[in-house]
Amino acid sequence: MAEFKHKHIIALRDLSKEDIELLISTAESMREINCRDIKKVPTLRGKTIINLFYEASTRTRTSFEIAGKRLSADTVNITTASSSTTKGETLADTALNLLAMKPDIIVMRHSVSGSHYFLANKINCSIINAGDGAHEHPSQGLLDMLTMKDRFGRLDGLKVAIVGDVTHSRVARSNIQGLTKLGSKVFLAGPPTMMPPGVEKLGDVTVCRTMNEALQDADVVMMLRIQQERQGKTLMPNAREYSRYFGLNPSNIKLAKPGAIIMHPGPINRGVEMSSSMVDGDQSWILKQVENGVAVRMSMLYHVCGGELGE
Ligand code: CP
Repeated sequence: MAEFKHKHIIALRDLSKEDIELLISTAESMREINCRDIKKVPTLRGKTIINLFYEASTRTRTSFEIAGKRLSADTVNITTASSSTTKGETLADTALNLLAMKPDIIVMRHSVSGSHYFLANKINCSIINAGDGAHEHPSQGLLDMLTMKDRFGRLDGLKVAIVGDVTHSRVARSNIQGLTKLGSKVFLAGPPTMMPPGVEKLGDVTVCRTMNEALQDADVVMMLRIQQERQGKTLMPNAREYSRYFGLNPSNIKLAKPGAIIMHPGPINRGVEMSSSMVDGDQSWILKQVENGVAVRMSMLYHVCGGELGE
């Protein structure tokens, strides 16, 4: 088996094609654990994982906790609302105090892009990025790629349309980094106010003038959430207008290949990014993404611990 040499997983930009393939293939072999009656193996017994979330989360925080528990690690969750951050403690002080309790991994979500690199220079345990600002969300990118591989058996040569608020999307950035390394063709569409200048430099991507251009013959249609919380000012006239030009519906999905799948990282603004019939329809693989999130996070935790089996 190939070796995973990284102590931290902060961005898919930092990983090679082989690293990404290894994380995905380990997730593929670990996911049968999630279907057992007794969903627990001793792989990370004796390891301590702290989930430190400075931003809200349902899917990522829960699945990192479940992933750690299924591998028999001790997991502790901290959200800022109930932590001493509310009393003014800095990120560095919080991390150094947590480190004094000897965790093996800190899984962190933070609103500041690059905060994980700052922390990685200060502490000696592993850090996994559970989303930093508009920078990257590597576990989401990996679970998205696993989901596409489940459907098509490969990533090489797939046409992936990513539509919506690209500017504020860490999900888009991780997918661009990962998918282009693994040979997929990425097409982006969104309002000009939500398309960052120079996005082509992130990887071999095509920026489309219209959503229809991106959807044409796509194998995968990935819709992005409008991140109003990160938009300093409103970047669209109103939700109805946005939906008209950049919403997925039963009519424009016909431009994609007949067997195309629909994905969304969640949470979804139903009726804005996509109609409910698309969210709940036969082509939707959105809940499969969530299911794959547990296995992918098990793989990430396992590999940053050195890929060693517990005693
Ligand atoms: N996809 C995602 O990151 O969802 P949460 O914000 O609920 O974790």
